[in-house]
Amino acid sequence: MALLNILRYPDARLHKVAAPVTVFDENLKKLVADMAETLYAVPGIGLAATQVDVHKQVIVVDVSERRDTLIVLVNPEIVEATGVSDIEEGCLSVPTIYELVERAERVKVRAYDQNGNAFTLEAQGLLSVCIQHEMDHLKGKVFIEYLSQLKQQRIRAKLAKQLRKTA
Ligand code: NI
Repeated sequence: MALLNILRYPDARLHKVAAPVTVFDENLKKLVADMAETLYAVPGIGLAATQVDVHKQVIVVDVSERRDTLIVLVNPEIVEATGVSDIEEGCLSVPTIYELVERAERVKVRAYDQNGNAFTLEAQGLLSVCIQHEMDHLKGKVFIEYLSQLKQQRIRAKLAKQLRKTA
């Protein structure tokens, strides 16, 4: 296994659209294992393949307190969404920024695991928000892009300042 490098906003590669997985092979299993290792090492609660510069529809999520409930979503699709969430979200690609984005409180998701088995997952609260956030990554969308232009400008300025400090 290997730790993967996470792209930082405003890297243009975060705007690439991920393609569906068509072959469930050893390469896919390795990608999932590396993404999971990276997620736990950071630590984070969700990671999309887009964030590690692999443009395939693969997501790993673990919102459990004990960090022992990994969910792998390949080619995820939301088939039902209800309610409105009020959970602020952050992103490993946009460190230190937390904002409220309009998301469904509950979602029903259809996906495959890394072995190609189809399943349906019903999620609510943090898990629901996390899945919607990661699915946006697969479409090339970063959560702060839901905010006003002025807010996005301020965030970009803040991130640039952080980068100068750590350089
Ligand atoms: Ni993110």
